[in-house]
Amino acid sequence: MRILVTGGAGYVGSVTVERLLDAGHDVVVVDDLSTGHRASVAGEAAYVDLHYGDARAMTRLFVEQRIDAVLHCGAKSIVPESVADPALYYRENVVGGIALLDAMVAAGVRRLVLSSTAAVYGLPDIVPIPEDAPLRPINPYGATKAALEGAIRWYGAAYGVRSIRLRYFNVAGASERNGEAHDPESHLVPLVLAAVEGGRPVTVFGEDYPTPDGTCIRDYIHVLDLADAHLAALEATAPEDPRTGPPEGSEPVALNLGTSDGYSVRAVLAAAERVTGVAVPQRVGPRRAGDPPVLIADARLAAAVLGWRATRTDLDAIVGSAWEWRRRHPDGYRI
Ligand SMILES: NC(=O)c1ccc[n+]([C@@H]2O[C@H](COP(=O)([O-])OP(=O)(O)OC[C@H]3O[C@@H](n4cnc5c(N)ncnc54)[C@H](O)[C@@H]3O)[C@@H](O)[C@H]2O)c1
Repeated sequence: MRILVTGGAGYVGSVTVERLLDAGHDVVVVDDLSTGHRASVAGEAAYVDLHYGDARAMTRLFVEQRIDAVLHCGAKSIVPESVADPALYYRENVVGGIALLDAMVAAGVRRLVLSSTAAVYGLPDIVPIPEDAPLRPINPYGATKAALEGAIRWYGAAYGVRSIRLRYFNVAGASERNGEAHDPESHLVPLVLAAVEGGRPVTVFGEDYPTPDGTCIRDYIHVLDLADAHLAALEATAPEDPRTGPPEGSEPVALNLGTSDGYSVRAVLAAAERVTGVAVPQRVGPRRAGDPPVLIADARLAAAVLGWRATRTDLDAIVGSAWEWRRRHPDGYRI
């Protein structure tokens, strides 16, 4: 397959590009480097510095490069930033996303896998969360992902775009080549490891939740497991594959990607101390608005549809891979 990956210079995108190349596919990365890193794109992939919302340029690229399928990882994805500047999130994630869909349709590219998020669910009634839980996002980030998911579903029905929307839970860990280097960073594992390296103490937001140790529980999925799921999802969008509908149409498919298990913030801190051998500098702060006590995926549908299960579920191994990557790249992607 010739696969175009938007956001392929980002954290999830770069690791997934490695996986797609390993599986023998040709990859074209489209990234504007707004949060990504040119050095994270594996050499065998073509790289194009472009905004995925430039429909005219994207249509041309799809045709010139004879693209078969799109993996849309590119997005703005920082929750507090989305609350402060919802216009940016609607412009980039929704308006840009629709332009990308239009370019696909114009160029006859009808296979799509979307990076979506557990943030589409908001505060769930049921945990582990099934895919048919109501979508009630509580921030513009989740709302813009839910909006694009809706558009993709209807583009499928009307224009035959075969798609799978993948709702990630908390992605963590690293490959040998690529790891997480966001600025600003908002994810727990890199924040904890930065604290170990002498950065700012990590803040535990609330220790009075109704959980065994009082801190929030999240479902941490290794980025390498996530990459495997993308490969399986892209394969499932083939025209003859019944999982995404009959050849002329599309069935709506949304899949949670998680481990169906969770770890508390305190458990992540303890894992980091075991892995690094260093006490994690930390402080306790108040709860953050909109942080549910427990977010865990019901990942059974992904197993049924894709034959995929997370296999790298040991927390020390997940945190350990992130730590190894940071030790090999003390300056992140700066050369
Ligand atoms: N990391 C997580 O825990 C997590 C969890 C749930 C969902 N997701 C989703 O996964 C995707 C990837 O997340 P990530 O953590 O790798 O983020 P990231 O910021 O590392 O990667 C996003 C990439 O997209 C690029 N990009 C952004 N806007 C663009 C545009 N208009 N045109 C071209 N390129 C653009 C950025 O430069 C960056 O390389 C996002 O869609 C995010 O919403 C991530």
